[in-house]
Amino acid sequence: MSNKYTVKKIEKKKDYLSISWNDNFKSKFHFLWLRDNCPTAIHPTANMRVFNILNVSKNIFPKKINIKKNNLNIDWSEGNHKSNFRLKWLRDHCYTEINKQKYKSPYKFWNGNLKKNFSKIILNHDKIIKNDKHLKKWLELLHSYGFAIVKNSPTKKKSGFRVLNRISHHRETFFGTPFEVINIPKPNNTAYTAQALRNHTDLPYFEYAPGYQFLHCLVNNASGGNSSVVDGFAVANYLKKNEKDVYKLLTRTYVKFKDTDYTQKSIRVLHSPIITLTRENDFNDVRFSMAAMGTIDVDPKKMKRFYDAYQYFASLLQNNKFKIDFRLEAGDIFCFNNRRVLHGRTEFDPNSGNRHLQGYYIERDEIIARLNYFNKLKI
Ligand code: OGA
Ligand code: ZN
Repeated sequence: MSNKYTVKKIEKKKDYLSISWNDNFKSKFHFLWLRDNCPTAIHPTANMRVFNILNVSKNIFPKKINIKKNNLNIDWSEGNHKSNFRLKWLRDHCYTEINKQKYKSPYKFWNGNLKKNFSKIILNHDKIIKNDKHLKKWLELLHSYGFAIVKNSPTKKKSGFRVLNRISHHRETFFGTPFEVINIPKPNNTAYTAQALRNHTDLPYFEYAPGYQFLHCLVNNASGGNSSVVDGFAVANYLKKNEKDVYKLLTRTYVKFKDTDYTQKSIRVLHSPIITLTRENDFNDVRFSMAAMGTIDVDPKKMKRFYDAYQYFASLLQNNKFKIDFRLEAGDIFCFNNRRVLHGRTEFDPNSGNRHLQGYYIERDEIIARLNYFNKLKI
């Protein structure tokens, strides 16, 4: 039987060990890499590297190697040091293999059709509080769809902390936590009016815009004030496939986002493309807010083409093919990846009733790290 954790052949090359495994896979393990990852290099409880890479030279090599049972033993040329690796650990961390793996995006794109399967993204507040299985499902939805609604939560002010803290701590901003989405006199932000908010991401002028936003609906009995949501990655993906020039412009043109809130003694400015990508060429984030867009200062040679692309993207973000309209009810927590999914609302009439949401931010890191924990990710 071919066993991927047993060794068929081991050879010492110029600067690495070549291992042929019983399943015929061939790995390279460079000498410095091996020394750096000697099990003694890691603190037994802190699980952090205590070995200093400067304590060996770049010419270090194994003087002696042998395989005994399920272990590889190495006597090093420097420091009178011996290492003992478990073969399973070596194979599981084989970077020859890891680098051959094809990247798989964690994102599931969605469009207006998700409305027909809305129950898919609905969760129950108390179940998340009581049961890790429901918490995990919430995290999975947030990571893959970037959108979920937690129903039947309490409507007491600040009670959103309880379910948020099942994940981790919140991300603070100058708006405070929670921030009050309510119409106020002399508003310092259009969110604090009764006006419509076109689909947008929050705080795009931060270098690191908040990863997720939870909008907790405490009361919503004014007329109007319906919500909308759109998957920015799905729209970006549509452009990538169908409108290559628009896609190129939106991923490469640096535009200005800004915040000059009169209650702050800060002026925030950031230049970034509207769509950014990861090293795998997957989507990293979408920043889009007509409200927070500064005066655009791109090269005049590009301005006309940029505006065409920007306007086209804006039109798709409001298009029924992609967006979903729905109404928040008291006790709903509208949760979304704020660096992917755009949200908006229609105008409401503050004289017809009350509307009060409380907003929280939490980082994308916290969602992913908790999900990794539940998935028992081996690293
Ligand atoms: C916001 C916002 C949406 C709403 O506060 O950032 O977009 O439904 N609010 O009021
Ligand atoms: Zn918003």
